[in-house]
Amino acid sequence: MIEVTSIKPHEKYGGVYLVELEDGSIKLATKNIAPGKRVYGERLYTYEGVEYREWNPYRSKLAGALLKGIEGLFISRDVKVLYLGAGSGTTPSHVSDLVGEKGVVYAVEFAPRVIRDLLRVCEDRKNIIPLLSDARFPQKYSHIVPLVDVLYADIAQPEQAAIVNINAKYFLREGGYLYLAIKSRSIDVTKEPDEIYKREIDTLTRGGFEIVDVVHLDPFDKDHAMVLARYGKS
Ligand SMILES: C[S@@+](CC[C@H](N)C(=O)[O-])C[C@H]1O[C@@H](n2cnc3c(N)ncnc32)[C@H](O)[C@@H]1O
Repeated sequence: MIEVTSIKPHEKYGGVYLVELEDGSIKLATKNIAPGKRVYGERLYTYEGVEYREWNPYRSKLAGALLKGIEGLFISRDVKVLYLGAGSGTTPSHVSDLVGEKGVVYAVEFAPRVIRDLLRVCEDRKNIIPLLSDARFPQKYSHIVPLVDVLYADIAQPEQAAIVNINAKYFLREGGYLYLAIKSRSIDVTKEPDEIYKREIDTLTRGGFEIVDVVHLDPFDKDHAMVLARYGKS
């Protein structure tokens, strides 16, 4: 068992911690709001009486985006997040740690087999509201989801930006932020943008988003970039 040398708050991203291990390696982590519980086999670390969960950038595109230095992390305490493409809950569980007990993660997932795993995660994390629904039809969950501060989308669909726009129109407050995992093989997406990437960014801009930053997730994920955008003018 490798021992923890120290755990310190990340200087740039609130709610994110850097775990230094005795072999000198440094891991990203969040404070575990469900102590003793793992979600995807991640390591748990206890330091000065507090439990932290390792946040694996090879399993979570948001962790990869932080390690690649994305401009900001707007998922913070008490924030409401609409999460499209929640999968079995890997990244949503860290988002749940970040927003804390008073924040809420509305987690939309349309595959029944996958949402079964997500439901297990929700048993220990009351701030995740699982929604078995298709993100293409936000009207179907508009009676449950309020205006949110952050929209997170990772649905691996060709028309993802259009789906984001319609969800933003329903649920994202003016000045709110979007994190969008976008398919892109270009390592420097701003200098050699590929077609899919260009089309998605244009669609977002037409939908009222201002692009704040784009980071490619290589080496953690060779096929994706993370787009950070701000909604509206205020
Ligand atoms: C890449 S996985 C999500 C992984 C998850 N975001 C994470 O980081 O832990 C994409 C998920 O989006 C879901 N999905 C795809 N299209 C969808 C849609 N139209 N509505 C809801 N979920 C969708 C898929 O079933 C799949 O579970």
